[in-house]
Parts: sequence; C-alpha cells; structure tokens
Amino acid sequence: MKIGFIGAGKVATAFGRHLYAHDITISGYFDRHPEKMAHASRSTASTPFQNAAQVAQNSDVILITTRDDQIKAVCDDLCRANAIGTSHLVGHMSGAHSSLLLSEAGRKGAALFSLHPLQAFAQEEKALTDLPGTYFSLEGADPRLATVETLMEKTGNRCFRLAPEHKSLYHLAACVLSNYIVTLMDFGLAVLEKGGIAPQEGFQAMLPLIQGTIANIARMGPARALTGPIARGDATTIRQHMDALNIDGAQQWREMYAWLGLKTLRLAKKTLLSEKDKAETLAKILNDDE
Ligand SMILES: NC(=O)c1ccc[n+]([C@@H]2O[C@H](COP(=O)([O-])OP(=O)(O)OC[C@H]3O[C@@H](n4cnc5c(N)ncnc54)[C@H](OP(=O)(O)O)[C@@H]3O)[C@@H](O)[C@H]2O)c1
Repeated sequence: MKIGFIGAGKVATAFGRHLYAHDITISGYFDRHPEKMAHASRSTASTPFQNAAQVAQNSDVILITTRDDQIKAVCDDLCRANAIGTSHLVGHMSGAHSSLLLSEAGRKGAALFSLHPLQAFAQEEKALTDLPGTYFSLEGADPRLATVETLMEKTGNRCFRLAPEHKSLYHLAACVLSNYIVTLMDFGLAVLEKGGIAPQEGFQAMLPLIQGTIANIARMGPARALTGPIARGDATTIRQHMDALNIDGAQQWREMYAWLGLKTLRLAKKTLLSEKDKAETLAKILNDDE
C-alpha cells in the first residue's frame, strides 16, 4: 500500500512523516514549489514527482493536500488525464468538505474519502509532535475505506467514521468547540476588563478555573460538570448579574449573558436543578419578565 500526496504543505509533510515513522510506504509528493516537494520527499524516503499524474501512477492512496479551494480542480484534472482508476483510493484532508468534492474520481471507480485530523497545524515540527495524540475523522461511504482504517490502526491514531451527509454538522461542531470557545473567553475577559482587570492578568487568573471545568466535562459530561448559580437555582445572584450589566454600552453583553443563561438553565434542568419553581424564577429573570 503506497500513499502519494499532491500538495506538500504543512499537513501533507507532517502527516507523511508520521506515516513513514510507522513503516507505511510513501510513494512521493508533487507540489508546484520544488523546494517543498524536495523537503517532503527527502523526509519520507520517497520521490519528488514531475506532476500530479505521476503521483497517481505510483500510489494506491492519493491524498490531495492542497488548500481546500484547489482540491476539486486537482482531482478533475487527474480524471481528465485518465490518471484515476478502480484500484485507487482518493482522499483529501479538509474538515469543511466531504469526499463528494472528489466525485469525478468516483465516476472513474475510485473509492472516495476525507481524512481530517482534529488539530490546528501552523508549523510542521509542532504538527509532528501533535500528530500521535490527534483524533481523526474518516468520512466516506465506500467499503474499501477499511484500508484507511487499517492505516490509522497502524499509526495508533484514534479515528471515527462519518457519513458524507454528516460532514457539515461535524465541521460546524468542531467550529463551536474550538472557535466559539474563543468568542466566549473574549466575552468573559472583556467583562472582567470593565471591572478593572487587564485581559492578560484576567486570563491567567481564570485559567485554572477554565481547565478545571474542561477536566470536569471530560470526567462527567457537560450536564453534570455544570456548577454555579444556575445549577444551584440561585435567583439572587442571577438578578445581581443582570443588574450589573444594566449599564451604558453593555446591552449586547446583557443579551448574550441572558441567552447563554437560558441555554445553561435548560442544561441544568436535565440533571442538577430539579425544583421547578426555582427554574421558573431564573427563566423570568433571564427573560426580563419579572
Ligand atoms: N493547517 C491546518 O491546521 C489543517 C488542519 C487540518 C486539515 N487541514 C487541511 O489540510 C489540507 C492542506 O492544508 P495545509 O495547511 O497543509 O496547506 P498549505 O500549507 O497551504 O499547503 C498546500 C500546498 O499545496 C500547494 N498546491 C496548491 N495547489 C496545487 C496544485 N494544483 N498542484 C500542486 N501543488 C499545489 C500549495 O502551493 P501554493 O502555496 O502556491 O498554493 C502548497 O505548497 C487542506 O485541505 C486543509 O484544510 C489543515
């Protein structure tokens, strides 16, 4: 089983090196930057190819690891050049797109997939350090993808399967769990700054609390990890919070706090907050409906 890459950027080079370190054969790389291609192939004892079709000719698994907006064009070009056939598994590593981006190759009889590492790779060496602990998703519907699962078993990476129609939901969830946590932290730190604490110090002070919460979620799941005034049904404190945001320029924060509070209340009602009257009082405060 030989793996070839079209696009020798951060992900392809680090992932190729990761595969190679687990005795998986890399056929080689093609990239429009000769220096990147030379580095990637040197690091994996593989061949710098002259063009993308040569990658296909010399590989069982073809990974198109260009930027997302180039993947379809590269795949379509390979198909037009008759470089793809029934023996090929053709994949990409984008989180946002499904394997349907490669449907031209499917028409040539190839098995299609996307293999997405749940990790941010800004730099190759750091990526190499992070890859052993990285979880992957493998999306695609073809039974031949068992081969890709076997590769993941060989590297020791955990991996779950996704149906093509669920890829958007998967990527959306990853954005919520990564990007929107940033938004939430920015919100908390901005409110803290309003109280006179500089964001940098605020973050250092809150970090053990944030880490403790994440550790609790890992141990008990989100609903049981909830602590604080909503979980306790503490109406006085929630009223104080809403009043504290009743100041000039804080209307958007107040709306965000109330909206998140109502979502938190819904979560608390599932497990920790069993008294119906307390939950109703909290809902009224958060809805400004007292
Ligand atoms: N970076 C991350 O954190 C991360 C994480 C998970 C998944 N991914 C996915 O991994 C894939 C690769 O991302 P990356 O960050 O490694 O990209 P990258 O560093 O930008 O590397 C892509 C390489 O492909 C080359 N390329 C583009 N079009 C080409 C073509 N037609 N023929 C040959 N080479 C071509 C690019 O050259 P130019 O620079 O000239 O375009 C560049 O050298 C993407 O699908 C991305 O969504 C990335």
